[in-house]
Amino acid sequence: MRKLLKDILDKGQVGEEYVAKGWVRSRRDSKGLSFLVLGDGSSMQTLQVVLGAEVPGYDALLPDLGTGASVAVTGELVESPGKGQRVELKAHAIELLGKADPETYPLQKKGHSHEFLRTIAHLRPRTNLFGAVFRIRDTLAQATHRFFSDNGFRYVHTPIITASDCEGAGEMFEVRATSKDDFFGRPAMLTVSGQLNGEAMAYGLGQIYTFGPTFRAENSNTSRHLSEFWMIEPEAAFYDIVDDQDLAEAYLKALIESVFRENPDDLEFLGKFVDKTLIGNLEMTRDNRFERVSYTEAVEILQKSGKKWEFPVSWGTDLQSEHERFLTEEHFKKPVMLTAYPKEIKAFYMFQNDDGKTVGAMDVLVPGIGEIIGGSQREHRLDRLEARLVADGMHLEDYAWYLDLNRYGAVPHAGFGLGFERAVMFCTGMSNIRDVIPFPRSPGQAHF
Ligand code: 4AD
Ligand code: MG
Repeated sequence: MRKLLKDILDKGQVGEEYVAKGWVRSRRDSKGLSFLVLGDGSSMQTLQVVLGAEVPGYDALLPDLGTGASVAVTGELVESPGKGQRVELKAHAIELLGKADPETYPLQKKGHSHEFLRTIAHLRPRTNLFGAVFRIRDTLAQATHRFFSDNGFRYVHTPIITASDCEGAGEMFEVRATSKDDFFGRPAMLTVSGQLNGEAMAYGLGQIYTFGPTFRAENSNTSRHLSEFWMIEPEAAFYDIVDDQDLAEAYLKALIESVFRENPDDLEFLGKFVDKTLIGNLEMTRDNRFERVSYTEAVEILQKSGKKWEFPVSWGTDLQSEHERFLTEEHFKKPVMLTAYPKEIKAFYMFQNDDGKTVGAMDVLVPGIGEIIGGSQREHRLDRLEARLVADGMHLEDYAWYLDLNRYGAVPHAGFGLGFERAVMFCTGMSNIRDVIPFPRSPGQAHF
């Protein structure tokens, strides 16, 4: 397999010959000599190539060796006299693989705005910034599989095309065949959550998780909502709400540890250029026990805060981002888990508490983001579940298979959904969710 620049930089032996392939990040010329800085996306690090005028083709190639051009350089790895790098490559031969016309290549200069880079989403992966973001995204995905696998959760695949509206919010995209009307014989949609199928799988395998794309036709053009996003949804039989909270807390901490372990350079870059509070927020989340309070306590705190809210708070109203962020950023100054929400503002499947008013919901709020996880203990008592569906005006026939789950061998069970992009935002300090997914889809936006 080809050697990545990061391997040459970290493990390459001085005196050995290597072939370095990458893109020119920058070039500096001095008398009869050029210094190329090469990157290949494998890490934040770059390899300095010393290109002497004696290298075959030097004069002819030089004009095309500008920022963005792709090259293959063969040379000897030598100790670098320069600061901040262990080694550099003394070129014997260079091949230009692809030019990048400086007249039209948009990534010439550094310091483009995030907004501008969004308009060239097909080119932005080449920047240091998006390299860092998408390497961290990868780390979080790999760490997710490791965490759940290590803790006895099986990875299952739930459908993307579905006929059920898990959240009951009616904000779904319809799926139709271009060739045939009524392809599925009934209305079909893109899923908003894999949870209901996940529950069916958990009743067989005990503990499962899904990691898939989800789709919501909410018309919320905010910095924290996408029309297509990824969600991780664990579901565990024999779990109650406290087990669910413990799992969510351990999972978030494992995610953060993975980034500290695997992306120190990326974190340093983002902490310097994107969000000065990033590393502090991550350390604080990793090192503290999350605050656990009820919705009712949260409402009291918000009412006593003396703050002027855009959306006034009273018991029974859904919490808005401004409230969630106040609780985690200003009041508790750490992640907060809220439970026992009014049943009216939560989905039908949640466990009905004895007070008759609240359900066993669990939302996790973190600084800079607000809600990052939404979950609950599920209602496994068939009579109560049916009563809630009826009260919400839903048809029991439409949920027949879901009701069957608890008709046979029902047990307490719980789970949650982590919005993957919100987790990437939290771990990179990026403030717009469109900048943590390679090709964002949001209202009015499906380009690339
Ligand atoms: O709170 P939500 O709606 O919960 C569910 O879908 C449950 N079925 C999950 C479960 O219990 N298995 O969504 C879960 C998380 C939210 O906390 C948020 O982080 C993220 O998904 N999310 C979004 N992320 C980006 N864009 C959107 N439009 C999102 N809507 C929710
Ligand atoms: Mg939610």
